[in-house]
Amino acid sequence: MKLCVALDNSTKEENLALAKDIQEFDVWLKVGLRSYIRDGQEFLEELKSINPNFKIFLDLKLYDIPNTMADAAQEICKLPIDMFNVHATAGKVAMTTVMERIKDIPNRPLVLAVTALTSFDNENFKYIYNENIDKKATKFAKDTFEAGLDGVVCSAFESLDIKNNTSNSFVTLTPGIRPFGEDAGDQQRVADINLAKKELVDFIVVGRPIYKSNDPKKVVEKILKNI
Ligand code: C5P
Repeated sequence: MKLCVALDNSTKEENLALAKDIQEFDVWLKVGLRSYIRDGQEFLEELKSINPNFKIFLDLKLYDIPNTMADAAQEICKLPIDMFNVHATAGKVAMTTVMERIKDIPNRPLVLAVTALTSFDNENFKYIYNENIDKKATKFAKDTFEAGLDGVVCSAFESLDIKNNTSNSFVTLTPGIRPFGEDAGDQQRVADINLAKKELVDFIVVGRPIYKSNDPKKVVEKILKNI
């Protein structure tokens, strides 16, 4: 299991300081919409220059018509990143079109699809998708697998079921992790490290429990010792 640290601080300087603070560790860094919109490609390059072994997950959650998604994916593959994501809700045709477009790029980044956002509770999810989260997340995961993507973003609660319905090597990346039972914030379906281990999760994403703590480095160290 790998740790992916969400760089969700409010400024680029704070995000770079956090990356520097944890540069000695074998971790992934997650760059989301806010920092990418504000700080762009240069920020990604700065992260890689802190430690070239940092792996970067660009969390932009593409969701559009197939051709527009494939155009965006092709551009993303030119960035210094190692993984990016799309929304499974965009549909199997869109995901297949994305993979078809980037399949021949050497060392292309991993591509994941978001099944259900971990901030959804079942009631709010059902209002939009007319189905329970767990069942629908597995269906989205099957579509994603059949479209040739590398894995899904899901809650830790669905990871094992998704692997059982696709393949053990199909990657699961789970946000909403509160490693040692910290405050959930706006997340509805939170899980700790033990549950993530039982569910054979490949990547845990941790944001606030790290960047809001007084000693992020210590928290990262403790998480790495436990995974
Ligand atoms: O602070 P916290 O640990 O809740 O951060 C979780 C991170 O994972 C945030 O950057 C959020 O945007 C992201 N994320 C999520 N749920 C998803 C996909 C991404 O919480 N399904």
